[in-house]
Amino acid sequence: MAFGDEILRALWLFLPAYVANMSPVFSAKVLPRWSTPIDFGSNHADGRRMLGNGKTWRGLIIGGIIAGITALLMAKWPLWLFSGANFGIGQGSSGWGVFLFGFMMGFMALVGDAVESFFKRRRNLERGAPWIPFDQLDFVVFGLASAFIWSPLLAPGWAVDAYFDPWVLGTLIIGTPVLHLLVNRVGYWLRLKDVPW
Ligand code: CTP
Ligand code: MG
Repeated sequence: MAFGDEILRALWLFLPAYVANMSPVFSAKVLPRWSTPIDFGSNHADGRRMLGNGKTWRGLIIGGIIAGITALLMAKWPLWLFSGANFGIGQGSSGWGVFLFGFMMGFMALVGDAVESFFKRRRNLERGAPWIPFDQLDFVVFGLASAFIWSPLLAPGWAVDAYFDPWVLGTLIIGTPVLHLLVNRVGYWLRLKDVPW
């Protein structure tokens, strides 16, 4: 495969996690009242919030569901050069397996985002303050860990072969921070986000 194809394939494979990571801004707009924070408002021993009001159960659960649906759509209607990225449908993966694999990838990606917020609060960073490159990479590390942990949901070996490839890992780790900064700037222009990072 040509160089560009490898990069596109990596980004495509990680689409459920990307979609999940972007979804909380939208679910917050659609369901503003479902705002129970993951930490239920509790404080850490340092007197600061455990995670803060920016990390909600709504974001986590809806993000997981949207990621599951994304994976299922990708598996059922594979696009041209990504026909290999069908989550192993036809090679032993079931529809439910693909949905749950995608759900877990999105859910875990957002757990990574929440874990990062825990460390942001400990460093005295306010909600919404930037912390580069952790804001950009938290969900990549957790999304990849999820692909490894939940690989038994798909056809044997499929997830490990697909994600734990040097090209895929390299693209995700180097390319995601760039994409993340671009997408957030667009979100700010569109007034979806309050801050441009
Ligand atoms: N969000 C949510 N639930 C989550 C994650 C995000 O409701 N689990 C929503 C919140 O409205 C949040 C917005 O998406 O403000 C943007 O998310 P993010 O930039 O990750 O959070 P921050 O508000 O910047 O918080 P932090 O400083 O803790 O990263
Ligand atoms: Mg974050």
